[in-house]
Amino acid sequence: MARENFGSRTTAIMAMAGSAIGLGNIWRFPYMVGQNGGAAFILVYIVSAILLCIPIFLSESIIGKRTQLSTFGAMEKLAPGSGWKWMGFLTVFTPLIILSYYSVVGGWSIEYFIKSLGFAFSDPAVSRTEHSAIFGGFITSTWKPLLWHTVFMLLNALLVVFGVQKGIEKFTKVTTPVLFVLMVVIMIYSLSLPGARAGVDYLLKPDFSKLTGSAMLSAMGQAFFSLSLGVGCILTYASYLKKDENVLSTGLFTAGFDLFFALIAGFAIMPAVFAAGIEPGAGPGLIFETLPYIFSSMGQSAPVVSGIVAIVFFITILFAALTSSISMLETGVAYLVDERKMGRVKATVILFAGCWLLGVLCSLSFGPLRDVQLPGGTIFDFCDKLTSNFLMTFGSLLFVLFVGWKMKKADVRDEFTNGGSLKANSRLFGFFYFLVRWVAPIAIIVIFASNLFL
Ligand code: PFF
Repeated sequence: MARENFGSRTTAIMAMAGSAIGLGNIWRFPYMVGQNGGAAFILVYIVSAILLCIPIFLSESIIGKRTQLSTFGAMEKLAPGSGWKWMGFLTVFTPLIILSYYSVVGGWSIEYFIKSLGFAFSDPAVSRTEHSAIFGGFITSTWKPLLWHTVFMLLNALLVVFGVQKGIEKFTKVTTPVLFVLMVVIMIYSLSLPGARAGVDYLLKPDFSKLTGSAMLSAMGQAFFSLSLGVGCILTYASYLKKDENVLSTGLFTAGFDLFFALIAGFAIMPAVFAAGIEPGAGPGLIFETLPYIFSSMGQSAPVVSGIVAIVFFITILFAALTSSISMLETGVAYLVDERKMGRVKATVILFAGCWLLGVLCSLSFGPLRDVQLPGGTIFDFCDKLTSNFLMTFGSLLFVLFVGWKMKKADVRDEFTNGGSLKANSRLFGFFYFLVRWVAPIAIIVIFASNLFL
């Protein structure tokens, strides 16, 4: 059977941007910006995206588009008989581990979306502590989070089973633009609140004194996670690009949209947080405790408006999580289909079962299994830290080393410039190659070492 392709450049960019835009943009970026020096942090983020993340993104894209295979087969095809294929194998597993815990949070967003439909966040009488208690009670319970984790995984599997064009492409083509529109709606609402100015200052006031070494490392780490790098997702999606597609432009558009969305999310969330007079925090607390409180405290003056904003917000989170998680599942499915010659349905069912099971353990690690301690914390924390602090960085390092040092320079140039036909790419090739050979590997080793030892 012929391998599928993305129908057009736009749909390829929507799928890649859908993978990149996810929970990371909504619950980590806005907080990190405020904590680490506002505009100064955004500057470092942009510089590291250009010098580090785009080269990694392009390295994965070059390997994927050149071979039209998923990670394992791609490495084997480009370096036959070498040990590189095992790194391809490693990157098949990383997104599946991420998917397991990501799906648990995806499940929480379904619960909150459904609650918002019943206008559960419009009651101004519910205090912030009560919202925290409700969230705590929910995630530590056994069955409900498991139910939603299962539903989230099923939605994922369904979209992936339909294939690249009928499933992933059709879904992301609609949802990715919708995500922007919905977030802009929330941003306008949030900026119109009295006291919103403090949130804008929090995000924008450049404070270079806060830009410490560890702040810079956080900026780089966040840029990695946000662009879904080092796990083979981008490689797999790039393997569905048409042969004459321009990897540089898909990379720049994806990275640009990802940053733009993170900024809009920041201006949607922080002004509302400050308008409500709350100290901002990061992580699940921001989305599932602080924001419900904000919605309900605004319910006092305009219950219908705040109820609708809550619905819009939680559906945005759900879509953002889904467009990212399907890229994780697809990476594993593509491997089984390409290398094991398995049917798509069978491959999806097998991986669904594995990820669902690990996700069950992650979900229970907030409740009945909370005493099971692994390096880094609970089972959930372990999976999160293992993947975002180590496996993603390690995978990224191997990808740039492969393209910079193992692949023939002529082949890399050929793929980057489409045989020399893309003039702008030809001019930029020297700069790109320098970044891939020297700048990116050294920077990644520094990040990796600091994650290990700091
Ligand atoms: N980029 C996604 C986010 O910002 O939420 C997370 C992600 C997606 C990580 C896909 C890894 C991955 F393979």
